[in-house]
Amino acid sequence: MKVFITGATGFIGSRVASQLVEEGHSVTALVRGLGKALPLKEKGVRLVHGTLDMLDVIREEASKADGVAHLGFKHDFFRDNSLYGNAIETDCKVISAVVEVFKGTNKPLIMSGSAGTLGSVEGEVDESCPVPAFRPSRATCEEVALEGGKAGVRTAVMRLPLHVFDSNGSMFQQIQERKAKQEGAASYIGEGNYQQSSVHVEDAAAAYVLALQHTGCGDTFHIGHGKASGRELVAAIAAKLDISTASVSMEKAAELYGPLLAKRLSTTMVVNSSKARRQLHWEPKHPADAFLKCVAGTYS
Ligand SMILES: NC(=O)c1ccc[n+]([C@@H]2O[C@H](COP(=O)([O-])OP(=O)(O)OC[C@H]3O[C@@H](n4cnc5c(N)ncnc54)[C@H](OP(=O)(O)O)[C@@H]3O)[C@@H](O)[C@H]2O)c1
Repeated sequence: MKVFITGATGFIGSRVASQLVEEGHSVTALVRGLGKALPLKEKGVRLVHGTLDMLDVIREEASKADGVAHLGFKHDFFRDNSLYGNAIETDCKVISAVVEVFKGTNKPLIMSGSAGTLGSVEGEVDESCPVPAFRPSRATCEEVALEGGKAGVRTAVMRLPLHVFDSNGSMFQQIQERKAKQEGAASYIGEGNYQQSSVHVEDAAAAYVLALQHTGCGDTFHIGHGKASGRELVAAIAAKLDISTASVSMEKAAELYGPLLAKRLSTTMVVNSSKARRQLHWEPKHPADAFLKCVAGTYS
């Protein structure tokens, strides 16, 4: 299969690109800087220079492809929360551009979503969970992709959990770890009883590769294997750094992390991935307790 991928220099996208190459697919990646993309080139990935705002380039490359994996996302909103609306708008435009090219072809477009889109929900959450109405939200991007499903595009939304990790832990845990070092204590928010799913980055990437082959038109998949509470995660960080744990208020957390991230960190979202296992034949290779072990440095 000829696959066009965005975000291939990123944490998850780089693994998706590698796995696709290993499986014998022909991969073209949209990249905005050659430096970070060199390892991809060495693996045999064809590089196309462009950004997520260059829709002509995206349309042209999509028209040459049998499938698209879209993992690029403007994450600069973590630094400045006011940029979130622009990140969402760009994502919607990229998805629309590919849908326009793929209309009626039955080709797959696999896009990245976040389980955080569903807000805070108790219990194991599957794809039937209603999507909250607040905006801006990645729900808008999902809607564009799911509309594409009605137009004969095999669109899939991969809703990833907060903690996508490798042996160094997850991006969101590393942010908490850096703050813990600065503050001299690892802190959970409120009671720290919130719980979040995790998934090893190689397992997450494998789900995208499978979705390119097995998704239907307009599918959503929850991807996660393992979970940790805020207290468990903070205890693992504190043990690793040999510092104490503490509780902080939501106001203090917003000061430390910014309001968007503080809300996201204290959200309860444990996903049920039965649909991905059933329909995509997704079988995570890493055990459910791998995340906390990676944080503690005891996973091999
Ligand atoms: N990691 C997680 O824990 C997690 C959780 C839930 C959802 N997700 C979603 O999964 C997807 C992949 O995440 P990730 O962790 O792999 O993200 P990442 O490591 O931050 O990578 C983002 C990718 O997007 C590219 N990109 C950003 N802005 C761009 C622009 N203007 N033009 C072209 N490319 C641009 C980056 O290119 P450069 O290398 O040039 O910067 C990079 O390749 C994203 O949609 C993310 O929001 C991730």
